[in-house]
Amino acid sequence: MNENQQEEARGESDRRSSPPSRQSNAVLVESATPPSDDGGAPQLTRRSFLMWVGSSGALGALPAAALAAPVAASAPVAAVDDALVTVRLTVNDVAQEARVDVRTSLLDYLRENLQLTGTKKGCDHGQCGACTVHVNGRRVNSCLSLVAMHEGDSVTTIEGLGTPDRLHPLQAAFVAHDALQCGYCTSGQIMSAAALMTEPCGRADTDVKEAMSGNICRCGAYSNIVAAIRQVRDAG
Ligand code: FES
Ligand code: FES
Repeated sequence: MNENQQEEARGESDRRSSPPSRQSNAVLVESATPPSDDGGAPQLTRRSFLMWVGSSGALGALPAAALAAPVAASAPVAAVDDALVTVRLTVNDVAQEARVDVRTSLLDYLRENLQLTGTKKGCDHGQCGACTVHVNGRRVNSCLSLVAMHEGDSVTTIEGLGTPDRLHPLQAAFVAHDALQCGYCTSGQIMSAAALMTEPCGRADTDVKEAMSGNICRCGAYSNIVAAIRQVRDAG
């Protein structure tokens, strides 16, 4: 075998030993259109379509709705009844039973279902205290609590604390000390102050301010609010 024949034999050997994947990759990269039969009509199988999409970047050209459709179609759809729950609780000494959406906050239940609108919605995020009510004697931000969590509980709102004819001592003191301007925060302030009376709290005004720090008054009636609370505490 001369030198030329040896060179030709080496080339033939290299071609046989090259990996087949390299050849198929080359075919994919060159394929910029979907495969078709001899007549030019599309000849798509799932496999050939995915190979074409992967090699041509056609996925980015598909409309978003087309890409999202299979996901949306397979998403579980909850029956409306699955989101409802029956709750029995006592509000202002009156037994209540309601079938409500499990996502209903105690605040919305009081305001929307029972029309007890004395409890106010300020921030709806637990930051202002306008929605304060008592649950089993303890103050809570009703906007942060689901009514479904209060089966069997006893809830007191500002309407249950006193009446126009028989004001609670704190309600009378707020009036006497002019401890409000717009009044939006007032029911929350009074409910917090009423709970404070049974909580461990120092005698100093700074202790009261600390204990009332979860109740925001945008009108800035703080000094009069503290004075009203001091009067009731001193009388007790
Ligand atoms: S409305 Fe609940 S804390 Fe503001
Ligand atoms: S009286 Fe207006 S926010 Fe307190």
